[in-house]
Amino acid sequence: MIKPSEYQRRRKQLMRSAGEGAVLIIPAAPERTRNSDVLYPYRQHSDFLYLTGFREPSAVLVLLPEARGGKAVLFCRERDAKREMWDGPMAGIEGAVNDHGMDEAYPFTELETRLPKLLRDRTRIFFDLGQVPEFDRKLIAWVNELRNRPRKDFHAPDEIVGIDQLLHDMRLYKSRSEISAMRKSARVAAEAHRRAMQLCRPGMTEGQIHAELLHAFTAHHCEASYIPIVGGGANACVLHYIANRDELADGDLLLIDAGAEYDGYASDITRTFPVNGRYSGPQRDLYELVLEAQLKAIDQARPGQQWDDVHMAAVRVLTQGMLDLGILKGGFDEALEKKQYKRFYVHNTGHWLGLDVHDVGEYTIDGHSRELEPGMVLTVEPGLYIRPDDHRVRKKWRGLGIRIEDDVAVTRDEPDVLSRQVPKTIADVEALMAA
Ligand code: GLY
Ligand code: MN
Ligand code: MN
Repeated sequence: MIKPSEYQRRRKQLMRSAGEGAVLIIPAAPERTRNSDVLYPYRQHSDFLYLTGFREPSAVLVLLPEARGGKAVLFCRERDAKREMWDGPMAGIEGAVNDHGMDEAYPFTELETRLPKLLRDRTRIFFDLGQVPEFDRKLIAWVNELRNRPRKDFHAPDEIVGIDQLLHDMRLYKSRSEISAMRKSARVAAEAHRRAMQLCRPGMTEGQIHAELLHAFTAHHCEASYIPIVGGGANACVLHYIANRDELADGDLLLIDAGAEYDGYASDITRTFPVNGRYSGPQRDLYELVLEAQLKAIDQARPGQQWDDVHMAAVRVLTQGMLDLGILKGGFDEALEKKQYKRFYVHNTGHWLGLDVHDVGEYTIDGHSRELEPGMVLTVEPGLYIRPDDHRVRKKWRGLGIRIEDDVAVTRDEPDVLSRQVPKTIADVEALMAA
């Protein structure tokens, strides 16, 4: 678990980079209605979670940088015995201070009277507009009210600027405890994938496999970090396939893209294996190719390499391999130049991973692909998807969709594959399925 002292350190670091004279405002995620009076399961906003570890809705964090370190103020719900009887324990004002290390905490109901006062004499407000429109409107009204006071003995804020530049760069570099949470999240997801491989049989449904994944997550104090993709046969060619209810046919591949969330941190793993436990000839050829692309791409996840190097390593292997297999025609240079792989490989080779599955952080700096540094965590997930109706390729390739995805931490040394416990060579997958 991430300790309160680490959250405190993050808040202080953020205040230092915002500078004196700033005020930072970070609201909790709103609750969302699913239907009628049923809510979606609550998930805290990742920025808010990163700075507080506080998982309740109806809260706003206000950070006030000062010469001597600054102050963290949390507005949150007061404890309420009646509500606790329905929904369980709440932190309340005392919990915010005692357990979450806030300097001050006030009832959420006092936000409207207290927050405008905290904006006085602050030149710059750091706040991400566009997340909760109602809050945007209020904040702008408070600022305007302060500005338009006829005789004022304070300075009203001059500007509202996004917090993401400062905060999202911090979030990109994972601390030791974040890496260890991500390792746990990956280990649980790996266990779920292994379980799926071991249980899969022709005639089962995608839904049964989906249920097994959730079983493994839930049994290990995790939830799904996104809705699992369980695509048998040509369903694997639908990149965001989540219907997950078809029957799994003998002779087909099954693509599973599923990750766990532990202590807020996501894993994101994909494996593609044969429903009956044995890869057929064409499946083998294509699988070996995607695996080679993935291994070459992972090898690029080192300090000093650029973000684009990871993708380009995968694209080069895939292009050459598809030429060799006759799926693409012509010469390598021309095929690469014309990005012919895009017919079968439409997505990127990865993304940052952290509190969000597609985590925050810039991929380019001043127009150049970003250099990888220790502490960054990315997914490496090349794939090939040949639609069942693609008559430009030989019949044996049609309807094959293959992706292999691992979670990789950049370190000073070798790339650290956090999700390494799920087998991915043909021999290892077949051995596990046969066991
Ligand atoms: N599971 C979402 C992704 O792979 O990006
Ligand atoms: Mn991914
Ligand atoms: Mn994925």
